[in-house]
Parts: sequence; structure tokens; C-alpha cells
Amino acid sequence: MAAERKTFINLMSTPVSMAMRHVFAAERAASRIADIPADTPTRTIARVGIIGAGTMGGGIAMNFLNVGIPVTIIETRQEALDRGLKTIRGNYENSAKKGRISAADVETRMGLLTPALDMASLKDADLIIEAVFETMDVKREVFTKLDTIAKPGAILASNTSTLDVNKIASFTKRPQDVLGMHFFSPANVMKLLEVVRGEKTGKDVLATVMKLSKKIKKIAVVCQASAMDSSATACWNIIAACRAI
Ligand SMILES: NC(=O)c1ccc[n+]([C@@H]2O[C@H](COP(=O)([O-])OP(=O)(O)OC[C@H]3O[C@@H](n4cnc5c(N)ncnc54)[C@H](O)[C@@H]3O)[C@@H](O)[C@H]2O)c1
Repeated sequence: MAAERKTFINLMSTPVSMAMRHVFAAERAASRIADIPADTPTRTIARVGIIGAGTMGGGIAMNFLNVGIPVTIIETRQEALDRGLKTIRGNYENSAKKGRISAADVETRMGLLTPALDMASLKDADLIIEAVFETMDVKREVFTKLDTIAKPGAILASNTSTLDVNKIASFTKRPQDVLGMHFFSPANVMKLLEVVRGEKTGKDVLATVMKLSKKIKKIAVVCQASAMDSSATACWNIIAACRAI
């Protein structure tokens, strides 16, 4: 016991120990937002829509399927949809091979996933996350259309890495329902979720997404919306291209 105590006291004052305590406290502090009291009402998220079944869309969908929330996933072409679904199934089958989930779990999760080619299939979704190409023109097209399809009260989120969420929100007549949900790749694995708060994002929308992030086992960190300048965007694209290689 004396040796244990001596070692414990030595370890407690190391930079590693101090850093771990800092991270522990910081993760908890990140979930508290100064102007959003704990009793802020939240919206019910029973069905999620994802637009884009590429690298990010598929991984994002898995987070919800894993906790039993049905997902409708949209693509522009059947081949892209098939490829996205194949990747999701492949990821689950690998997990089953490693014994992390059962073969029945694979089918249960895939059974909660509805593939579609028409954005109108998102009309019942409580939360819709856009994960399409990273250009403002495509985001404009998607959010303008989404505004005519999503039900009143649906939360509209973008997974954009670099584009201005305020601008994206301005493509709709409901900027209070829009925010960023920036997942990291691979989205079904990485714990961090940047929740990008727009100038007009409703408090209940932010509170709902923070609560939901816990349900899907992410560590959510709120940040302000801002646009990267073109040089920063270019750097980001180079980093993304290098990662892809
Ligand atoms: N890849 C990353 O590491 C990463 C990380 C965080 C955020 N992001 C962001 O996520 C978004 C998606 O990135 P990605 O890497 O998954 O791209 P990706 O090219 O792998 O996938 C995008 C998918 O969107 C589909 N698509 C395009 N327009 C569409 C539309 N109108 N309707 C439906 N589907 C459409 C495409 O067919 C494609 O399959 C981007 O905004 C990107 O900046 C990417």
C-alpha cells in the first residue's frame, strides 16, 4: 500500500495526469451552454433524413441506426445509393465478424434504413442532415428544396466543413431551424461533433441537438458559424485530398 501510495502521488502531478483531468472537466463543460438553461424545451427526434450517401452520409446514418432511430438516406443516382448502402452493410458485417454486434443486429440496423432517390421522402423526418458536395451552389440547391419539403419544426443541419452556416440558413424561410452538425471522418467512429450555432439558430434547436448527441454517443462542442476564406478552404481541400490518398 505504501508503494501504491507513493506511485499514485508521483503520477498525480505528471503532465499526463493533469491533461487527463483537464479533458475530463472540459468534456463536461462543453455540454453546458451559458444562455441555454437545462430546462430548455427540446423537440422529438424519432426519424432522421440524410442527404448524400458518400463518405460522410453513410457514417452519419450509422450513428442513428445504432441507437434504433430510423433513417431515410437520399442520393441523386441509384449507383451512388447502392454503393452507400453496400459500405454501411460492409461496416456492420465487419463488426459482426469481430463479435462486436450479432448477425441479427446487422439486419435490425439495416432494416431501419430506407434508401430513396427523391427528397420528398424526407417529409416526415424530424431532423435532416445534409452531407452533399462542399460547394455553396449545391448547398443552396439542396436547402432551397428542403425548405419546401421538410415538415414544420424539422431541424435542418449541414455537415459542411468550411462553408458559412448563416448563409446556408438564409436559403430557407426558417433559419431558426438550421444549424451545423459537423461530424468527423469516419463519422460512425469519431467521437467529436462540432455543433455550429448560426446567428438565428433557435435555442430549442441547439438544446435538441446537444441532447441527441449524447444519445448517439458523441461529444458535442458548440462553435459559432463563420466562413473560411478561400485560402483556408484551399488548404482544407488539400488536406482532405491527402487523407483520401
Ligand atoms: N470527407 C470528410 O472527411 C469530411 C469530414 C467532415 C465533413 N465533411 C463534409 O461533408 C460533406 C460531404 O462530404 P463527403 O466527403 O461525404 O463527400 P462525398 O463526395 O463522399 O459524398 C457526397 C455525396 O453527396 C451526393 N450528392 C450530391 N448532391 C446531392 C443531392 N443534391 N442530393 C443527394 N445527394 C447528393 C453525391 O452523389 C455523393 O455521393 C461535405 O460538405 C464535406 O465538406 C467531409
